[in-house]
Amino acid sequence: MKKIVINGGNRLNGSVCISGAKNAAVAIIPAIILSDGVCRVENIPDIMDVNLMLDILEKMGAKVNRINRSTVEIDPGNISSSYANYDEIRAMRASCYLLGALLGKFSEAESALPGGCNFGVRPIDQHLKGFGVLGAENSVANGMIKLKSNGLQGGHVYLDVVSVGATINIMLAAVKTPGRTVIENAAKEPHVVDLANFLNSMGADIRGAGTDVIKINGVSHLSGTNYTIIPDQIEAGTYMAAAAATNGDVTITNVITKHLESITAKLREMGITVEEYEDCIRVHNKGRLHKCNVKTMPHPGFPTDMQPQIAVLLSVADGTSMITEAVWDNRFRYVDELKRMGANISVSGKMAVIEGVDNLKGAPVKATDLRAGAAMIVAGLAAQGTTCIEDIRHIERGYENVVGKFSSLGADIKIVQTDEPTSAN
Ligand code: EPU
Repeated sequence: MKKIVINGGNRLNGSVCISGAKNAAVAIIPAIILSDGVCRVENIPDIMDVNLMLDILEKMGAKVNRINRSTVEIDPGNISSSYANYDEIRAMRASCYLLGALLGKFSEAESALPGGCNFGVRPIDQHLKGFGVLGAENSVANGMIKLKSNGLQGGHVYLDVVSVGATINIMLAAVKTPGRTVIENAAKEPHVVDLANFLNSMGADIRGAGTDVIKINGVSHLSGTNYTIIPDQIEAGTYMAAAAATNGDVTITNVITKHLESITAKLREMGITVEEYEDCIRVHNKGRLHKCNVKTMPHPGFPTDMQPQIAVLLSVADGTSMITEAVWDNRFRYVDELKRMGANISVSGKMAVIEGVDNLKGAPVKATDLRAGAAMIVAGLAAQGTTCIEDIRHIERGYENVVGKFSSLGADIKIVQTDEPTSAN
């Protein structure tokens, strides 16, 4: 089993470069199934979820040429089946995008049901509702989901909840579907916009991505393209939190500052100095953080994927703060781990009340999911003593070279391999 071991207390100092956005990459790679030519994608993050997605496409028959660590060329020409049943699909939530892409290409699709982080029920009813409007009926049997149609036709979809996944999946299914598809109450996250830009660079006709209403005029052909993925908003936010938690001074490069505004605003409210430049951001801090309240919301609200990391900062702030998780039902599983480090947090339903303590103390903890794992790293860096994080496979799903990047900022952090078996989780 691999663990991350951190000797906390070092102030982070220096600069760190942010990788490409995970949640954009895991949408753009399956979108390539729809292309009639070769696509070259740059700024691909070297992380487990993305590598799994590339493996799936390869198994489906695509030619995947990894040019270097962050550039890949994919020729989807040999993908000839609408059926996808691989172990990788069950390991990753984003594999549900295969359904939209395959449906858009073949007017039918069959795929294993997707897996992913566990923070409550993760329904796909809105994805299926959208596919239904386009003319596809669905059925589920033996862990597989099947979509069938007599040819798709554009239509009007009103999402009952703002869903990133449903917005992306409907876009994928609709981009080559004859007629006009309109998605109302669409998600506005940067990765939704990035996928639309990618598809448009292949010749799609998608307007309004980044607003509540996305309009898609189906096209019959999508050509190959060269495309660079946006930087990862949440990786950047995690380094911002780590800089603040350690009273450090860190410049975070390769970022889109606009995407970070909700995080920047909260950090400033906590008394942290955030300086914005064209494509980098400097975060520095001295002294105790101020309490504040945080409510997660779909973009442009405060991102749920930064909720555990901000909770670490509030754990050592001066007073009582409140976090309301308004996106997921159960995203406080990390709280028990943070309490092992001395945090004073009580959770009731979707709310957490945090009484700031003077400091956190190192302890053995688990990464209960990807962002929970990131929060444990931030906590370990800020804590006195040694923190040992188990189940780091969750962290490896979404953070490129996390130990290397934090080490380069002066953190005492390493990966150790032990003979103990991985704990059941
Ligand atoms: N929802 C429904 N029905 C649906 C779909 C979603 O009720 O058909 C509900 C969910 O239960 C949830 C809310 O809508 O309460 C939002 O879910 P959404 O569909 O937006 O989430 P997702 O697409 O499954 C993506 C990110 C998550 C991120 C959420 C919210 C990817 C691959 N995943 O998930 O990222 O938390 O949007 O922003 O893009 C992460 O990166 O750590 C991560 C979990």
